[in-house]
Amino acid sequence: MAQQEEVFKKIVSHCKEYGFVFPSSDIYDGLGAVYDYGQNGVELKNNIKQYWWQSMVLLHENIVGIDAAIFMHPTTWKASGHVDAFNDPLIDNRDSKKRYRADVLIEDQIAKYDDKIEKEVEKAAKRFKDQFNEEQYRATSPKVLELVEKRDALHKRFQEVMNAEGGIDLEGMKQIILDEEIVCPISGTRNWTDVRQFNLMFKTEMGAAAEGASTIYLRPETAQGIFVNYLNVQKTGRMKLPFGIAQIGKAFRNEIVARQFIFRMREFEQMEMQFFIKPGTELDWFAKWKETRMRWHQNLGFGAENYRFHDHDKLAHYANAATDIEFHMPFGFKEVEGIHSRTNFDLGQHAKYSGKKIEYFDPETNESYTPYVIETSIGVDRMFLSIMCHSYEEQQLPDGQTRTVLHLPAALAPVKLAVFPLTKKDGMPEKAQEIINDLRFHFNCKYEEKDQIGKRYRRMDAIGCPYCVTVDQQTLVDNTVTLRDRDTMEQRRVAISELRGIIEDKVSITSLLKNLL
Ligand code: GAP
Repeated sequence: MAQQEEVFKKIVSHCKEYGFVFPSSDIYDGLGAVYDYGQNGVELKNNIKQYWWQSMVLLHENIVGIDAAIFMHPTTWKASGHVDAFNDPLIDNRDSKKRYRADVLIEDQIAKYDDKIEKEVEKAAKRFKDQFNEEQYRATSPKVLELVEKRDALHKRFQEVMNAEGGIDLEGMKQIILDEEIVCPISGTRNWTDVRQFNLMFKTEMGAAAEGASTIYLRPETAQGIFVNYLNVQKTGRMKLPFGIAQIGKAFRNEIVARQFIFRMREFEQMEMQFFIKPGTELDWFAKWKETRMRWHQNLGFGAENYRFHDHDKLAHYANAATDIEFHMPFGFKEVEGIHSRTNFDLGQHAKYSGKKIEYFDPETNESYTPYVIETSIGVDRMFLSIMCHSYEEQQLPDGQTRTVLHLPAALAPVKLAVFPLTKKDGMPEKAQEIINDLRFHFNCKYEEKDQIGKRYRRMDAIGCPYCVTVDQQTLVDNTVTLRDRDTMEQRRVAISELRGIIEDKVSITSLLKNLL
């Protein structure tokens, strides 16, 4: 685990050093859990968004897109339940004055038991070597059994307070923290306040005070922009059920525990699709979207073993099925996407609060009803992080050197082709520019003439550029160049006229999309 943490730290600094992600307002020492995407980051991010958007809107005739405003009528958030229930339970340590999420403190305590169990098993494996029977050891070791019992009891208690009648049992939560003797990591003391609920929505004011300014919220999810536009899109697009509305946009949450770089941010981006269906068909559609979305992820070629579903045991009162798609990050399997069967809750609530009839007239059955919804909701930034984590490699080369390479899927890479003149003389720079001028309309190209070729290759490896081309003396004679592959580092001689044909298909989003059909 410690080794994985080291790797993660390196990925974070790599993101900064190579223009992928910078802390926001860096010259003022950053702003907590807010980040800016740099010159390479924005390209990768745009490619991720394009892959998602096209897989939804281009590949499905019954899915259309919208771009709703971030500011919405405040009643939206009353209707959706966010004003009353979008809360995190907080606790302060009086000595350090630090604030924590009480549920996270308890989750960390559960993880500590798990770590202790694994350490016991590792120790025994070392002690017994070939004789070691892990299954038997786990089932019989008094120490392991005691830890498992404590972990399970804590887990059960935690579930009970989280799912108490009428919402989270805040007193019960504090009692767990006291009983487990959880200390503040900064002060080391157990001098805790009570646990309080804290709403995660950012508030601001719209209009001048004299005109009667009203409090509005920065949207904490993009989904509500889709729900409030259901009627507009259904009517103007003459959409028939089942149909979907997709949207990509910013969302804002005043996260208390903002950890793991861009995994949990206060300003982030979501790609959400609400699929409107006939009531009663939701479980079939839920299964279908689970499968479709998992295929979208696995299509990137990171290996099926790095993904898993985490089906929710405890569902929100309006949901009748929910799952997360988790990806194997350096800090464990973590949620990247949620898929939820949300019944008719949201449309029903907006109908109630707006006083408008929000229904669908089904021409097949001649009846009107409120459609049910399957939602797929994925964070762009988490997707970005999962791609960076999986692609990053510090590779030992046969000649004893090392290189840092990003094995990004070619279709998502920020730069697709780098073109180098071997030297700055004899018309090589002009020839290299000529190649770029021809190919830049088809994919993103970069010209580099500084430093030796080896160093230029390394710089391109570090940003995940899949192809490099070198213009040399021979190019001037026969119009051929060396084409180098990022992953294999193999070089071959090809005609300039062949470059587009070789590269274009491999680096286009279309190549990814075709595998989804
Ligand atoms: N409309 C449903 C919804 O918003 P969610 O599980 O709260 O559901 C969906 O969020 C996705 O948005 C998550 O799977 C995650 O990828 C992303 N996300 C949520 N909070 C985030 C945060 N603070 N920072 C980055 N991404 C976040």
